[in-house]
Amino acid sequence: MAEPLAWVAPALDDLEAAGLRRTLRHRAGPAGRTVDELLNLSSNDYLGLAAHPRVAAAAADAAQLWGAGSGASRLVTGSTALHRELEAALANWKQTEDAVVFSSGYLANTGTIAALAGPGDLICSDALNHASIVDGCRLSRAEVAVYPHGDVAALERLLAAGRGARRRLVVTDGVFSMDGDAADVAAICDLAADHNAMVMVDDAHGCGVVGPDGRGIAAAQGCADRVSAAMGTLSKAFGAAGGYVAGSAALCDWLRNQARGFVFDTAAPPAAVGAALEALDLSRDEPWRRANARDLARRLAGALGVPAPAACIVPLVIGEARTAVEVSAAMERAGMLAMAIRPPSVPPGTARLRLTVTASHTVTDIESAADALASAVANAGTVADAIATPAGTARTTGAELSGLGPPARAGAASDTGDGFGTQRRTRRRDP
Ligand SMILES: Cc1ncc(COP(=O)(O)O)c(C=O)c1O
Repeated sequence: MAEPLAWVAPALDDLEAAGLRRTLRHRAGPAGRTVDELLNLSSNDYLGLAAHPRVAAAAADAAQLWGAGSGASRLVTGSTALHRELEAALANWKQTEDAVVFSSGYLANTGTIAALAGPGDLICSDALNHASIVDGCRLSRAEVAVYPHGDVAALERLLAAGRGARRRLVVTDGVFSMDGDAADVAAICDLAADHNAMVMVDDAHGCGVVGPDGRGIAAAQGCADRVSAAMGTLSKAFGAAGGYVAGSAALCDWLRNQARGFVFDTAAPPAAVGAALEALDLSRDEPWRRANARDLARRLAGALGVPAPAACIVPLVIGEARTAVEVSAAMERAGMLAMAIRPPSVPPGTARLRLTVTASHTVTDIESAADALASAVANAGTVADAIATPAGTARTTGAELSGLGPPARAGAASDTGDGFGTQRRTRRRDP
């Protein structure tokens, strides 16, 4: 009898042959500055809080007090006073009327986008938005118009062409997850105001790290009060798990009623909620954490000759997936964990090491990482001249990393472009 799953093994072989097969790495202890004795350059624990004793203790206390699981969705019996306390704390920090906590950032994005736009509406989405935004756009069944990364003029044309839509929503990453550059949220808010469009910003990588009090990229650009839905995650700078959307009381009420990722999902476990509350407090009490992480990220970018990042993500674009894996393996032999990111997480031909810097790193760590990267890239034999990729990203070369590359402009946002670029750049109507 035919085996219905017979296609899987050859499909995995195809991935292997293309250098795209992924395997899990199971670490033996908490994530921090090091992982299994390797210097960790691949974590989103930007403030070094995931294994902080106060955060871990808060998680344990919450589990003792409220139980390991929440037992039901928020709207049934899963919502505790602790969940509400976290929502109030997030709203207070983000200076919004309210906030809604989801059990992941992924669900916050898919749930919110599909609650804000539907058939007959237009969503304008940056080409390099995170996969959870792409999926939210698809789930919404709205018309989705993808604009080239950061191209505000193209966005304006799309909004103008979409005048007939019932509602318009512009959605963008704040700090782009695979490129580390920032959206021009202020310009997007200006355009949106001209076209009566809602603006949603996913600042998973900026919140906690950039802007006054770590409030994120929109606050840094002075336009937070013009963002309709400010999404963030509790799994990165706050070292816990969960996602949230901050905004007006009406928006939050709507999401609690209509966001499927909220309504049809078991409430976040109390331990994650307790940990997030403590981490939020810590991040506000200890601003040195974000200052340190950002300074070190700029230092790493400067040493590599790539543009200064908006927050803590420093992409080192290699090109071919197999070469990126080779460079990553060389880094591991040098005692450092720098994971290769390959398609479909990034567009073909732009595989990279996505380097991240955290508050737990030291100057010496960053200097050693830059030296190790220079020799790993040189030995992997990447071509000597920077090659412009379709997304405008310059590939990294051994020559650049040997000190021949242009110095980074301190404080300037990267204009490199890549990310979870699986969206087509043409206007499309999803089924
Ligand atoms: C930009 C962006 N948005 C959303 C998410 C999803 O967040 P979470 O991991 O909390 O589900 C991520 C995480 O990978 C991300 O990078």
